[in-house]
Amino acid sequence: MIEEAAPAKLNLALHVRARRPDGYHELETLFAFVADGDTIRLDPDGPPGLAITGPFAAGLSGEGDNLVLRAERLFAERVKAVPRAAIELVKRLPVASGIGGGSADAAATLRALARAHGVAADDARLVACGEALGSDVPACLLGLPALGRGRGERLAPTAPLPKLPALLVNPGVAVSTPAVFARWDRIDRGPIGEGEPLAAAMAGRNDLEPPARAIAPVIDAVLAKLGEQRGVRLARMSGSGATCFALFDDPADRVAAAGDLASTDWWCLETALA
Ligand code: C5P
Repeated sequence: MIEEAAPAKLNLALHVRARRPDGYHELETLFAFVADGDTIRLDPDGPPGLAITGPFAAGLSGEGDNLVLRAERLFAERVKAVPRAAIELVKRLPVASGIGGGSADAAATLRALARAHGVAADDARLVACGEALGSDVPACLLGLPALGRGRGERLAPTAPLPKLPALLVNPGVAVSTPAVFARWDRIDRGPIGEGEPLAAAMAGRNDLEPPARAIAPVIDAVLAKLGEQRGVRLARMSGSGATCFALFDDPADRVAAAGDLASTDWWCLETALA
């Protein structure tokens, strides 16, 4: 049995630069990961199929469109023609929420299959599978802080980030990534700055916040609530939303913030940058 973590990804900053003829958007984003997320368990010799467990299992079906099964199919087609495995996805992250749950699951599946079948973790074919599965999958395969360009798949690792306490909050509305990108105002507000990644992120922004807030106004309330907590270094939306995050210096401030949010019916995850 092989187990692979599928940690949540955060976009510490996300600058949308241009709309491309292929429908994607040219962007710059600082990817970071936290210590918690979904888990993939893979038994190459078990009965073939996908079982989904965990608190958010109900939000997903085990059908063919699931990114885990698409990753398994692609691995067999492009990397090594291996028989189907028994896979369990422990779904702890809310779906369609801007923290890369599906991308992280697909990347963890590719990593687990590579380990099971003696394929190197940095095999170029694995990365090609990642790119075919989604813009965020290569970053999730890498699993390290990185600056993403292109549609997010062209990666340059950054200096390590401090393992700051983090609080992730999702108000329970799923927002459609294409719908959020489609409402971007097409104004290029410039690149992410050079230098130390946390400072660059703090000086940056998430250009998808205004369109996501227009679609799901509750994001305003989440960001306001996070922004008013004691000791917050940065409060921002991740990806196309609706999950927002706050970074703290002091774990006690994160605990206090989580306590303050306990009266809401929002999903909260107390974690830390990895
Ligand atoms: O690559 P992925 O399948 O995750 O992207 C989902 C959708 O998000 C795309 O179909 C596109 O509408 C939008 N997107 C975009 N520009 C990006 C990444 C995603 O417009 N850089």
